[in-house]
Amino acid sequence: MKSIHTAVRDQFSQHADYYAQSTVHAKGDTLDVILDFADTKGTEKTLDIATGTGFTAFALAPKVDSVVATDLTPEMVLKASELAQQQSLENVTFSVAAAESLPFCTGSFDLVTCRLAPHHFQNVPQFLCEVHRVLRKDGLFCIVDSVSPESDALITWQNRVEKLRDDSHVFGYPPSQWNTMITEAGFEIEKTAHTRNALMSFLWWVRPQKNSAEIVEEIREAFLELSPDDAKTYYTVEPGDEGDFFFSWPMYGVKARKTG
Ligand SMILES: C[S@@+](CC[C@H](N)C(=O)[O-])C[C@H]1O[C@@H](n2cnc3c(N)ncnc32)[C@H](O)[C@@H]1O
Repeated sequence: MKSIHTAVRDQFSQHADYYAQSTVHAKGDTLDVILDFADTKGTEKTLDIATGTGFTAFALAPKVDSVVATDLTPEMVLKASELAQQQSLENVTFSVAAAESLPFCTGSFDLVTCRLAPHHFQNVPQFLCEVHRVLRKDGLFCIVDSVSPESDALITWQNRVEKLRDDSHVFGYPPSQWNTMITEAGFEIEKTAHTRNALMSFLWWVRPQKNSAEIVEEIREAFLELSPDDAKTYYTVEPGDEGDFFFSWPMYGVKARKTG
């Protein structure tokens, strides 16, 4: 079986151009949550982990001293660096790095951000340990990711569906588990936020050009297995054109400080 890092690189190396143009990822509440939590003063040495094509890093760049934007997938880093050049962002530098093993000195950042990525990480406690190490004392960690609802059945359901669609998905934890892991890594949680991503067309999200018709149908069936209440409350399922429907994933944000 291929490793998760290989699955991530296989997945994202093909999608750098597509991702750079994705309005679902470019804007929206999850970026606003990070910017609000970061509460920047203009002096922060910042690290953005799993930067993708740089949406979070570029939104922060004018508001901080500098940003180091890192990602496991070299093609994403290359695309992000081209875009930074086009946008004349001179305080952003780039590095290919795994979230679980950061090539930076202890205590070298004031602010660390990570948006829409940890559900792909093979070892979240190790990632949190690395974030804690590279932050200075009193430094700030701001994270937003997709999460599962606080229900064993829905944790299993959501992770099965995500994994069927994309084998680089590892696990979407519920908010309570994020709070525990972040606290156990040595942070003090200052603020949290519940939000959602933009409504997505099922037929767009399921990527029929990449996934087989059988997989698409298996995922569609899984949505039909949800109770009407769960479908509406947790996934905002709405009717769409024939053969399609709209839904969104729950998202959770945490603002945490390294106090020790
Ligand atoms: C959804 S995209 C990026 C989202 C980006 N943070 C943003 O705000 O638009 C997820 C990214 O996570 C990266 N990634 C996945 N696993 C990783 C890991 N273990 N370490 C570093 N980057 C990883 C992928 O290469 C991909 O570029």
